[in-house]
Amino acid sequence: MNTSFKNEVHEGLLLNQKALPSKYFYDKKGDALFVEIMNLPEYYLTRSELDIFRNKTEDLIQSLEVKPGSYFELIELGPGDGTKTKELLKVLNQKKYNFDYFPIDISGNALTLLKEDLSIKMPNLNVKPQQGDYFEMLACLKKSKQPKIVLFLGSSIGNLDDALATKFIYNLGANLRAGDKILLGVDLIKEQHIVLPAYNDTQGVTAKFNLNLLDRINNELGGNFDLNLFEHQPEYEEKEGVAKSFIVSTENQIVEIEATQSSYTFKAGERIHTEISRKYNDQLIEKIIANTDFSLQTKILDSKAYFADYVLKRT
Ligand code: AVJ
Repeated sequence: MNTSFKNEVHEGLLLNQKALPSKYFYDKKGDALFVEIMNLPEYYLTRSELDIFRNKTEDLIQSLEVKPGSYFELIELGPGDGTKTKELLKVLNQKKYNFDYFPIDISGNALTLLKEDLSIKMPNLNVKPQQGDYFEMLACLKKSKQPKIVLFLGSSIGNLDDALATKFIYNLGANLRAGDKILLGVDLIKEQHIVLPAYNDTQGVTAKFNLNLLDRINNELGGNFDLNLFEHQPEYEEKEGVAKSFIVSTENQIVEIEATQSSYTFKAGERIHTEISRKYNDQLIEKIIANTDFSLQTKILDSKAYFADYVLKRT
């Protein structure tokens, strides 16, 4: 059994404000639901960033300061199916840039599928999948001493609070050298009527994604959550720029989990906080990187200015 999952669930459900870590969304079913989310009409994030990779490819390449003649390593943290990245790879490849592509993911399966797909679409591209923890893999890659560009797309950093985001960027810096760059894709602060539906789609896919966490506790830890007695509840505070997801108990109830040998009481209306999805602006990005070894170089926006890819340069 996964002991960190068990311990974190137990600790989270004992908090005054109950909470569960969003990283546990992503089991096999969670991965599939997230793919569905990315295809929802309300979930603009993926399309906005794809717009950048498709239509601002030249800007991206310029901002990354790569030259066709000199070798670099293009590293990606959590590439998924690589839809956005392929747009960049295609152009770099056509224009005969000299680089290798290193997708890093904890899931070996995702990497195998991506490598296969790329070997058909861009047979002359060197793809070197690295399966494992982001920072362990980066520590390995650092040995090569080649110039590096790290892609961290999709506003994945938004699941971290600002202090943890700083720590994350700082740790990336520890695994890079002066002149190396991060391309950081983030969702921008904007009006509630655009953001909130992205986390509250009419088909209920996001609700399933959120509640899957309880299903996972049932399946892996012997929980007895009744999914009919809990509901998905998203929130977005426009001024703060943070979307939050909760699971709310619709009645007074007690839930038992075998693995933790504990029971947990819920009042009607009581909520479990499951996720933050932070939205950004220039000041927030500046604040987050202030105590790291990076400086902000440029940003590239999609045509609606919903989303930004920031280029951060290791000093
Ligand atoms: C993968 C973290 C970017 O926060 O928008 C989508 C995850 N959660 N719908 C996000 C998510 C609910 C997503 N990130």
